[in-house]
Amino acid sequence: MQHTVQDILKSGVVQMDATLDRLLPSPDTLPHSIHRAMRHSVFAGGKRLRPILCMEAARMVQGNGELPAGVDELGSAIEMLHTYSLIHDDLPALDNDDLRRGKPTCHVVYGEAIAILAGDALQTQAYEVLGNLQCNPAAAIRIVREIAIATGTGVDRNRPGMIGGQVMDIEGEHQRPTAEMVEAIHRAKTGALITVSLVTGGIYAGAHADAIQRLRSFGEKAGLAFQIVDDVLDVTQSSEQLGKTAGKDTASDKATWPAVFGIEQSLQDADSLISSAFAELEPFGAAAESLKALAQYLVERKH
Ligand code: IPE
Ligand code: IPE
Ligand code: MG
Ligand code: MG
Ligand code: MG
Repeated sequence: MQHTVQDILKSGVVQMDATLDRLLPSPDTLPHSIHRAMRHSVFAGGKRLRPILCMEAARMVQGNGELPAGVDELGSAIEMLHTYSLIHDDLPALDNDDLRRGKPTCHVVYGEAIAILAGDALQTQAYEVLGNLQCNPAAAIRIVREIAIATGTGVDRNRPGMIGGQVMDIEGEHQRPTAEMVEAIHRAKTGALITVSLVTGGIYAGAHADAIQRLRSFGEKAGLAFQIVDDVLDVTQSSEQLGKTAGKDTASDKATWPAVFGIEQSLQDADSLISSAFAELEPFGAAAESLKALAQYLVERKH
């Protein structure tokens, strides 16, 4: 059974929206403001790439073409963490953006205090969901640890974390960026969460150490390529196309891949990272086709 990448993306979005709707407090839960703010950002229209990568990694490892029961809940926890990172990334103290996923950002609609708390709350909610995972308890504990590290403060290449990357990104504004610095930022602020999506999908499905290591290497390469492309799109696309403010990195003097290497080299680097990511999945044979198609999409996307 062959699915195109468009089919995988479309059905992943439908499934993720349903699971997130089920697991997030309803908009009528008190206090209204925070629950409405959380839902505003979660349902603004994200691509759901991290949960889709997570679920497809689990499907590949399970090996019978099906998804392991309940893996969508793991995916939804990852999407909550990702959305929290976007709400905080857009705050006036960080990137100061007023457009996200085609809608006004959380702080523009609900005010800065509630937006900060909505980000915090999505993080807390994610760990509640992780605490209820249906996989074996040893796997669940491992998943929690992997995710905490990947969203944490590290910037070491062996232990990168999203917050660590965000710190380097903010402190790197108005500095002359070096290749080493941009690579460390990208691996940490973006690569780590993409990598852990794949790794935890594999752990959930019972992957052995070798398969987990392959998913990790695949994720590190695809995750770095993803952020390189994010930087390129910031330069080449319109705000309307992106659903977020274009040209923002140049305006803020950010340390980006194109700032160091130029657009053409950036696109070549993204392509070669993806080819080398594919090689990691060779032993999985045809079962890896969906993940490879998704990785290709990560670099070909236009938003
Ligand atoms: C945007 O991620 C933030 C980055 C880490 C570059 P996505 O491009 O996956 O954003 P959504 O989830 O589709 O809105
Ligand atoms: C965001 O990087 C990374 C995280 C949210 C952790 P960017 O600042 O480049 O993301 P966009 O371009 O605003 O989506
Ligand atoms: Mg940022
Ligand atoms: Mg930003
Ligand atoms: Mg960006």
